[in-house]
Amino acid sequence: MRIFSGIRPTGNLHLGNYLGAIKQWIALQEKNECVFCIVDLHAITTPYEAKELQKNILETAIIYLAAGINPEKSIIFVQSQIKEHPELAWLLETITPMGELKRMTQFKEKSAKHKDYVNAGLLNYPVLMAADILLYKADAVPVGKDQEQHVELTRNIAKKFNQKFGQTFKEPASMILKEGAKIMSLTDPKKKMSKSDELKSCIFLFDSPEDITKKILSAQTDSGKDICYNITKKPGISNLLTIYSLLTGKRIQDIEKGFTRKGYGEFKKSLAEVIVQYLEPFRRKQKELSLREVYVEEILKQGQRRALIIAQETIREVKEKMGLI
Ligand code: TYM
Repeated sequence: MRIFSGIRPTGNLHLGNYLGAIKQWIALQEKNECVFCIVDLHAITTPYEAKELQKNILETAIIYLAAGINPEKSIIFVQSQIKEHPELAWLLETITPMGELKRMTQFKEKSAKHKDYVNAGLLNYPVLMAADILLYKADAVPVGKDQEQHVELTRNIAKKFNQKFGQTFKEPASMILKEGAKIMSLTDPKKKMSKSDELKSCIFLFDSPEDITKKILSAQTDSGKDICYNITKKPGISNLLTIYSLLTGKRIQDIEKGFTRKGYGEFKKSLAEVIVQYLEPFRRKQKELSLREVYVEEILKQGQRRALIIAQETIREVKEKMGLI
């Protein structure tokens, strides 16, 4: 199978990005042809610092590598370095109904959040995402729950293109984990963990052990004192139990048993230790890789060369079918 996925380089990535997306990528690269993109053209649709962008792109590449993406197996590259992405997005925009874009949940949320920054790029965002995926004729797209609607739109666009211009694209499936697809905020467990929220709502992959401990100990919990999973009545503890289970491989029921008659404080202390230990190799590799910028840039260049071969072939086919060549 060919797999495609990407992350916006908006600075430090968090545990939600890791548990919902990257963790799946690591497993998938063993048996599949994987293409992992740093989607900088998506990152500029919401307010950002131009001065910071190159640094964030490099940091995201370092995160991919530190988390275990193997550049010998998988293609890692930067979206804006392959102009076929925006080119295909334009072509696909001509067959995408405006109405579908306006009803996308992410568009509604982001345009409500950045009221004075509702640009056409934000509306067309999902078409660029469809272009990312279809350019590589991917079979599957491992993402968190919040991106499911965009992958569904991608399938609709692929179907429409195939009907209009002849069989060209596969209809990609989204790969969404049963657990981990929606890690919630530490300060408001009814909302998903999100990079754009306050710092203490997220555990970042390179947070120091002290920060991790502080954030977990002050994470919002629910009334009562039992450590038991109940999404509606105890969203805070349930979210922490999910994180605990995903990082240790233990079943939630077993974790609950281990904490019978112990309070939230003890559970949180133990969870903080689990996270600190789990992320320790990330911090170590990140430190190593930050001293090897040239090596990381070389990986991105090599990724660009490999991705370009596939991208150019698809664009040529699409333009031929659309009567442009
Ligand atoms: P982005 O950068 O917002 O998030 C990257 C990945 O992390 C997942 N994710 C989460 N998973 C679980 N819990 C959370 N709290 C959480 N927050 C984020 C996201 O679902 C995603 O998988 N539009 C995409 C990037 C993109 C893309 C693509 C993805 C552009 N082109 C093509 C796949 C294929 C985005 O903004 O992800």
